[in-house]
Amino acid sequence: MTQPTPLTQLPQSELFRKDDVFVLFGELFGRGYATGLVDQARAAGMQIVGITVGRRDDNNALRPLNDEELAAAEANLGGRIINVPLMAGFDLDAPAGEPTPTELLNAMTLKTWEQDKLDWAHIDKCRAIGTERFRKGVAEVMAVLDGMIADGRNVLFAHTMAGGIPKAKVFMVIANRIYKGRGERFMSSQTLLDSDLGKLILQNFDEVSANTFLHLIEGSAAIRARVEAAGGQVRYTAYGYHGTEILIEGRYQWQTYTNYTQGYAKMRLERIARAAWEQGVKATVYNCPEIRTNSTDVFAGVELPLIALLEALRKEGGGAWAESQWQACRDLLVDGVTLEDVLKKVADFQTSAVMQPFHDFDAWPMPNNPEQADLQIGTSEDIVQMHKDRKALVTDLLSTLVLEASGALIFRESAAPAGPVLWLNHDVVARQLNHLHA
Ligand SMILES: NC(=O)c1ccc[n+]([C@@H]2O[C@H](COP(=O)([O-])OP(=O)(O)OC[C@H]3O[C@@H](n4cnc5c(N)ncnc54)[C@H](O)[C@@H]3O)[C@@H](O)[C@H]2O)c1
Repeated sequence: MTQPTPLTQLPQSELFRKDDVFVLFGELFGRGYATGLVDQARAAGMQIVGITVGRRDDNNALRPLNDEELAAAEANLGGRIINVPLMAGFDLDAPAGEPTPTELLNAMTLKTWEQDKLDWAHIDKCRAIGTERFRKGVAEVMAVLDGMIADGRNVLFAHTMAGGIPKAKVFMVIANRIYKGRGERFMSSQTLLDSDLGKLILQNFDEVSANTFLHLIEGSAAIRARVEAAGGQVRYTAYGYHGTEILIEGRYQWQTYTNYTQGYAKMRLERIARAAWEQGVKATVYNCPEIRTNSTDVFAGVELPLIALLEALRKEGGGAWAESQWQACRDLLVDGVTLEDVLKKVADFQTSAVMQPFHDFDAWPMPNNPEQADLQIGTSEDIVQMHKDRKALVTDLLSTLVLEASGALIFRESAAPAGPVLWLNHDVVARQLNHLHA
């Protein structure tokens, strides 16, 4: 049986200093996890370097950013961006003149997709082309990056890539029903995984959310060797997700969002870090708590466990600052609704008989079922209704706190990481926040 390996102590080591190099491997979005880490790198005086996934032209061809896009991206990052498109996944790749996987998916309809078959020999060719394209892009990026790292510097590579949902009309409808459908609109995630459509999507998730970490580690081998030979150190971080321990009935317990279809790719990401670690490369996947970002808005109910962070803030030595966060959350609720009412709703959800089978670490990621979807999506909607403004939620406020804590934890732990896979549970997140705001 595998067990989560939590980070239990606030990390104390320091490694990165002024003029060391921080490389963000993914684009930076305002609400995204990476902002917490970039803030730390900036505060330490590191040189910040980014990449771009590029943009698609009208014919779906991948291109670098134009001058205007590049200037905006560099201003947003506060650093230089190496302008070579690093879009991962093979959903829009194919041998010349042949259909891309997305085109094949677009031939499927809502009536036929469960039975529709794909030509796997063709898909394999598309996948190989996409992988080769990405690896070549990484090589180009590394050639430029090499010239930006002076001898004696340390380098921190931060992988943030996750995604791979193909832009096929039929899947947009299916995704909406799997992640947001209840009652009549419920759809089983297992039905998706059993179909050829689902199998293709899992492959694309692997490429985007996991294999890109391997290409990063392999593609930067020469830089790693040069930096280490000059006395510097190189670290790799990636964001994982594999459930989180949160306070349930006064005790930290592991729970997860369901159905997390991307979980197979996240476990592959963990295996990539473990294999690299065995080769002496300090690569660590940090399994992070559920927060609301651009990437999670599709998953109704993913934000529910986050609300329990309020209780962890108090339990982990919270003082005046923790109380001020409780108050700021209270201010977001409609008159007559208390924060205790909201917390009770989350607790009722977590402890309900319907959710118990899902608190099984070894069975992760489990498929959804109608009762679970109904309860999870219903609870999420009920809690939104308890707010004055659905655009200013308790979970928005708590997400920014988790970004701050995770940035500090990952940045410091990466100086001397304890292992290749570490969970950042609510206990250590709350302790880090209370420490930062003491
Ligand atoms: N939000 C959560 O609850 C949560 C929890 C645990 C881990 N994570 C992980 O944190 C990381 C950042 O996600 P986030 O939630 O902050 O959202 P985000 O939308 O800010 O970040 C997503 C990242 O993926 C990149 N990306 C998307 N599609 C890509 C593609 N085809 N090719 C290359 N790059 C691509 C984007 O450029 C961006 O850097 C991800 O690995 C995510 O799985 C998120």
